[in-house]
Amino acid sequence: MIITIDGPAAAGKGTLASVLAKTYHLVYFDTGMVYRAVGLDMYLHHEAPEDENAAEKYASALTFTHMHELAKNPDFRSAIGGNYASIVSAHPKVRAALLKMQQDFSKNPVFEDGTPAEGAIYDGRDTGTVVCPQADIKFFITASTEVRAMRRFKEFQAKGLDTDYETVLADMKARDERDTTRATAPMKPADDAIVFDTSAMSIEEVLAYALKIIDERISA
Ligand code: DC
Repeated sequence: MIITIDGPAAAGKGTLASVLAKTYHLVYFDTGMVYRAVGLDMYLHHEAPEDENAAEKYASALTFTHMHELAKNPDFRSAIGGNYASIVSAHPKVRAALLKMQQDFSKNPVFEDGTPAEGAIYDGRDTGTVVCPQADIKFFITASTEVRAMRRFKEFQAKGLDTDYETVLADMKARDERDTTRATAPMKPADDAIVFDTSAMSIEEVLAYALKIIDERISA
């Protein structure tokens, strides 16, 4: 079974994906990691993320092992990591270089220790439209920009990162703009996606809603 969850940053995709992965014994693939890895690699090598040809080289050389190594760096999830990821992800050559790696995983999903999984749960921006258009169930989850910026601000605070709400909100708006207006694979719901807004929902409500839909689909 392949499930995709797309939507903007801090809409609640990761939390939902983690719980669904455990519930249905699926391996979780957070596809934002591939773009974060390329962005952070460029940052660490003092390369400009706007340079598409340079970014393509990092993307073509990326492996799962290297991605997991880079993920240990504190900047992988920081505002810098997010901004670099968003910039490199707008380059068509980068997206093309990273597509096969993401698609191949759905054909043979395995957990980190190599154990085969019963399927995969993808989280990203284009996983239902481009990466796994064949997915069994597709979700597109969103929330207002202010709610998402506040969630991200609190996450940064909890990690002890020095930031303020206004900066997080401005970054969020800039990333949304880039992610939705880029020419290649812009963020948008697949035609057959179940779309919902989590602004006024608790985590428990989001989970209950998604579990109900999946269980209905499985038993149909
Ligand atoms: O989900 P995230 O915040 O880790 O994603 C970081 C950036 O990567 C995001 O701004 C856009 C890009 N991205 C993408 O273009 N396509 C995906 N499937 C996942 C992420």
